[in-house]
Amino acid sequence: EAQAGGGATAFDFKEVMAGVDADHHVAEGYDADVLLRWGDPLFADSPDFDPTNQTPEAQERQFGYNNDFVGYIPIDGSSEHGLLVVNHEYTNEHLMFPGIVTVEGGAQAGAAEVATDDETAEASEQTSTEAALTPPEPAELVVAPADQKRVDIEMAAHGGTVVEIRKEGGKWQVVRDGAKNRRITATTEMELTGPAAGSERLKTSDDASGTKVFGTLNNCAGGVTPWGTYIMAEENFHGYFIGALPEGHREAENYERYGVPDGSYEWGNFHDRFDLSKEPNEPNRFGWIVEVDVDDPNSVPKKRTALGRFKHEGAESIVAPDGRVVFYLGDDERFDYVYKFVTAGTYNADDRTANRDLLDEGTLYVAKFDEGGQVEWMPLTHGEGPLTAENGFESQADVLIETRKAADLLGATPMDRPEDIQPNEINGRVYVMLTNNTKREEANAANPRVDNAFGHIVEISEAEGDFAATTGTWEILVQCGDPSIADVGATFSTATTENGWFGMPDNCAVDADGRLWVSTDGNSMDATGRTDGLWAMDTEGEARGTSKLFYRVPVGAEMCGPHPTPDLATFFVAVQHPGDGGEEWEGFARPSYYEDPSTRWPDFDDQMPVRPSVVAITKQGGGKIATS
Ligand code: FEO
Ligand code: CA
Ligand code: CA
Ligand code: CA
Repeated sequence: EAQAGGGATAFDFKEVMAGVDADHHVAEGYDADVLLRWGDPLFADSPDFDPTNQTPEAQERQFGYNNDFVGYIPIDGSSEHGLLVVNHEYTNEHLMFPGIVTVEGGAQAGAAEVATDDETAEASEQTSTEAALTPPEPAELVVAPADQKRVDIEMAAHGGTVVEIRKEGGKWQVVRDGAKNRRITATTEMELTGPAAGSERLKTSDDASGTKVFGTLNNCAGGVTPWGTYIMAEENFHGYFIGALPEGHREAENYERYGVPDGSYEWGNFHDRFDLSKEPNEPNRFGWIVEVDVDDPNSVPKKRTALGRFKHEGAESIVAPDGRVVFYLGDDERFDYVYKFVTAGTYNADDRTANRDLLDEGTLYVAKFDEGGQVEWMPLTHGEGPLTAENGFESQADVLIETRKAADLLGATPMDRPEDIQPNEINGRVYVMLTNNTKREEANAANPRVDNAFGHIVEISEAEGDFAATTGTWEILVQCGDPSIADVGATFSTATTENGWFGMPDNCAVDADGRLWVSTDGNSMDATGRTDGLWAMDTEGEARGTSKLFYRVPVGAEMCGPHPTPDLATFFVAVQHPGDGGEEWEGFARPSYYEDPSTRWPDFDDQMPVRPSVVAITKQGGGKIATS
């Protein structure tokens, strides 16, 4: 049941053709300029990027890896001079470090076609036919075990960047050594604040106070607060821990709910705090929302425990009519939940410092989407309902440390991987990206497809247009995927072209004109025959449900951002892990790694690895994007 199409769209640009190749592509009449690449120097003393001689010390002074969230904080209200804030979510060792990969197994292309003589010709032909019918065994990349230096480079490539940028002659430039430039890494000192700070469960052998943490991990999306601070969301922190908890340890059930330890990284072999057998409470110090005061490059980032502990996707915010500030929060895991946090205090637009600790007091709510189109926001407050000592919650600290368990007990609605959530000040609604859930066997109204491979977008209307309301209504804006395949059940409008549909919505933004933009993660040759990209999505009137492709990434990459400048003349987007994969792309029938990547974007230089990068998109000749 595709929605009707043909109404006046809010977007004016010529659509890009969907597809896949080694480069990125933007709509005709626009420039997509690479602004910052992994390894680019940020300070006067930063060494130039030397990929074959990288060091932890150099990486600490350079742009980090796998840019995800991009935010722009104007300086003096300017759309041409500001601070760019960028998360570095994770590292891809096989694409970062030379000489560490061995390729094992996998069918060699053409191997089955060799026939030696007449006697074997028949058998060979048969083998050849079988080979054509059976997909080749994929080769496996075996990555050599890490050493301390490699681990320390990885830790320095995580975290975030704050960097001054300026537009001159229509082109954005990085202000190297800008006074507020800063790298935040997996070792930067941070403070735990709010109700869980100081809890016994947050104390370690290095920190008897339970308030002092080093570093932030897996910062996915984030946000910029109304008072101009930078929010970094800690998402898949479970991957960094190894080892086993001591027998009968109190955190066993907690860690099981969060998938800790996962052991994707080898940091625990070199840093005891990432080994549960040595530092059992350390995982409780991650999974929080981090707030960074970008005005002072030496400020101590704050882990705001009042916003709960889970696999935080992001934290986009809006001021409610009564001045309280509302943060929308997704917990990105299959069958996890949608949350929002409402501050107790109100926003002070005249005094920036008055907002300094707004995020330490307020109410965290989790969403229940009922079958009749109502949403209820249920408070996660100690002592209310099941959140009592009988269920293991001695205090609000316990409720926050085990947010997921508290939400389970309240009967929140299990969702199809809640990613970015964006309030729209102009139409008063809220957009929830639900990226996919191929493990779903039972549908509910808000997650209507079993085996949901392509995801969907839920639109919430809070009661009386008040973002702080505890009830509201919801409907599905679109079910994603290819509308030409009936079984997929996609519901883009009929005005959506074959280039315009997408799967796996991840990030989104609402621009100053109230228009919705959606970025994707997971569109690839095997999933959809196209790369990820940035799509313009109509939400109003007859055109509602119409989507158009504006920009697409190189093979193997996913799309993060966008962040529009206030004047809408620039969109900053982040191209994450270009060249990671791409095996199915016809121009590249082999696994992708440092020496042999599927693309060498953005440098296209044989001496350079593929590099995640932030891109600035502007209209040729200037003016508002997607507006005539
Ligand atoms: Fe890091 Fe939920 O994507
Ligand atoms: Ca994401
Ligand atoms: Ca966003
Ligand atoms: Ca993602």
